[in-house]
Amino acid sequence: MSSIEQTIPTSQSALQWVRVSDKNPFEWTTSAPVIDPSKLDDNQVLIENHAVALNPIDYKMAATNFANIKLPAVTGFDVSGRIVAVGKNVKDFKVGDEVFGVLSLNSSYGGGALQQYSVGDVDTLIHKPANISHIDAATLGIAFSSAMDGLRQVNIDSSTSIFIPGGSGGVGHFSVQIAQIRGAKQIITSVSKDEGFKILKEQYKIKDIINHATDNIVDRVLELTQGQGVDIAYDTTYLPSNYEKTIKTVKEGGSWIVLRRFGQDNTKEINSVTERKAKFILADIGRYWLGSERTQIKTFFQNTLIQGAKWIEEGKLKPYINQVIKLEEAQYALEKIKQGTGGFGKIVIKLL
Ligand SMILES: NC(=O)c1ccc[n+]([C@@H]2O[C@H](COP(=O)([O-])OP(=O)(O)OC[C@H]3O[C@@H](n4cnc5c(N)ncnc54)[C@H](OP(=O)(O)O)[C@@H]3O)[C@@H](O)[C@H]2O)c1
Repeated sequence: MSSIEQTIPTSQSALQWVRVSDKNPFEWTTSAPVIDPSKLDDNQVLIENHAVALNPIDYKMAATNFANIKLPAVTGFDVSGRIVAVGKNVKDFKVGDEVFGVLSLNSSYGGGALQQYSVGDVDTLIHKPANISHIDAATLGIAFSSAMDGLRQVNIDSSTSIFIPGGSGGVGHFSVQIAQIRGAKQIITSVSKDEGFKILKEQYKIKDIINHATDNIVDRVLELTQGQGVDIAYDTTYLPSNYEKTIKTVKEGGSWIVLRRFGQDNTKEINSVTERKAKFILADIGRYWLGSERTQIKTFFQNTLIQGAKWIEEGKLKPYINQVIKLEEAQYALEKIKQGTGGFGKIVIKLL
């Protein structure tokens, strides 16, 4: 049994995931089913989405089906909205509450953000502060949590130098800001587009920006650190072709953080890091659902989301939203993200 206080439609608009494929995995529909609220699991809630943020995992899930989801389903993970029904054991949320967070990576729904109503597990949601918009709140899902997961595992203070390749991406632009908030002495990042240089310089006041398309990043990081290398490199690119280079930017005793390739080990990278007498740190948030850290899921996500919201309220964290689009435009936007032309920071869908 669940608690419901408003009329919930039985069908909805959605970008449905209809085939496991790299090409055209999605189809637009206005008649996707909305779950019967009485079928919610005990710790689930039904959310009427106000805003949904896009991530590369939305199309990657569709291409690989790494979580073995039965189709048709709906991908997408970052939501902000209002609760319209709750499962019978839900104590911390009630119908009408405004919430935001991340949908489950291993639910039978395939995530489920790219539609009007999504099923969320209470462990990875928090109440949305009234003075934060749904659009800003939606950005704090996968990308901010990944940035926090990597950086919470290292010490950062006024003597720390850090290299964050991919500073124009969702994860990268949050990582750069977290390093700033925590008082890093030197923050070096990399981008390839003029827009990225401009925004990082002018809006985020980052001085040391490398062009990863034209510069030798190892040489440039060494130059910028007087030949020392950095204390921490957080490779937010998820590109194995990049790993060997970014490992070489870390000084002896430093840390190399990586958004691990899903489902594969990193033996080669671990060996390279060990050879440099540095520390290997994984920031693969998939492990909270599918790995050994399942018991930490609630603590990690709720603390992370609370912190992100607080920093936004304090004006310390500024999600960069390069486009606000309609749900109908999600497929086109995901294609752009896939092509590397999604623009700086985040793309957010506004539903209400
Ligand atoms: N395992 C996990 O838990 C996890 C979690 C989150 C994300 N990820 C993965 O991590 C990656 C980044 O996520 P995101 O949300 O930040 O993606 P995103 O917003 O699409 O950003 C990707 C960024 O990578 C940069 N880039 C591309 N090639 C590069 C290179 N050779 N060197 C340095 N930067 C390069 C791009 O910068 P320019 O446009 O300036 O070139 C772009 O800003 C994605 O592949 C995503 O799927 C994994």
